[in-house]
Amino acid sequence: MRKKIVAGNWKMNLNKEQSLQLVNDISAGLGNIDENTRVIVSPPFINIPYVVDAEKRNTKVEVAAQNMHFKESGAYTGEVSADMLLSAGIDTVILGHSERREYFNEDANLLTQKVEQALEHKMDVIFCFGEKLEDRQADNHFNVVEYQLKDALFHLKESDWQRIVLAYEPVWAIGTGETASADQAQEMHAFIRNLITDQYDEDVAEEVSILYGGSVKPANAQEIFSKPDVDGGLIGGASLKSQDFLAIINAI
Ligand code: 13P
Repeated sequence: MRKKIVAGNWKMNLNKEQSLQLVNDISAGLGNIDENTRVIVSPPFINIPYVVDAEKRNTKVEVAAQNMHFKESGAYTGEVSADMLLSAGIDTVILGHSERREYFNEDANLLTQKVEQALEHKMDVIFCFGEKLEDRQADNHFNVVEYQLKDALFHLKESDWQRIVLAYEPVWAIGTGETASADQAQEMHAFIRNLITDQYDEDVAEEVSILYGGSVKPANAQEIFSKPDVDGGLIGGASLKSQDFLAIINAI
């Protein structure tokens, strides 16, 4: 059975003290979560060790990285490798976020290398993709999503998919307060699962968790999560407030 996942992407927010406060509040407020559900937070690199340390006593909250370099090591000033993340206790990484694509020019070729590097290190990948507003307005959103997935992921072996989580994040819904409707999310998630069935088989498609991201809030989480092909959410703004994040976890 595929996992339900609620993941918080903290982006470039919160200093050390604020990060510790938030993760401690989340841990304290988290009731029993069933073993098929994963709760993940992803702080910026510099705060990862503090959050991992705080979470050692609470195994219910996992910690992920927001990015990673595609090479083993070397002269790449400012970058962080898979091995460094693993040694800091991180085995999940978010790749392909639209902010990385837009502001740091991450393209399909680079993302393919990052995904391969993560998989070589047996890390889980939360792979983000999604269309821009103009794509949706031009009724081109299915093509864009198909291209993004095929380009970066469809060369992978079937067994690699055990480590892949997909996060459909329509760019027009990120940080805008505008959410895809639950039906729009379901329509796209079902389309994605069909693509995976066509490329691999139904077993692979049924096992991969597909998250929705883009202005998920306590008020809309339940409706979005109720859809059969929506397996959870990747949460930005609302993951920075413990009460909101906990409410979203409770909606899964
Ligand atoms: P918001 O929830 O702030 O729209 O951000 C979504 C997101 O980008 C998660 O990665």
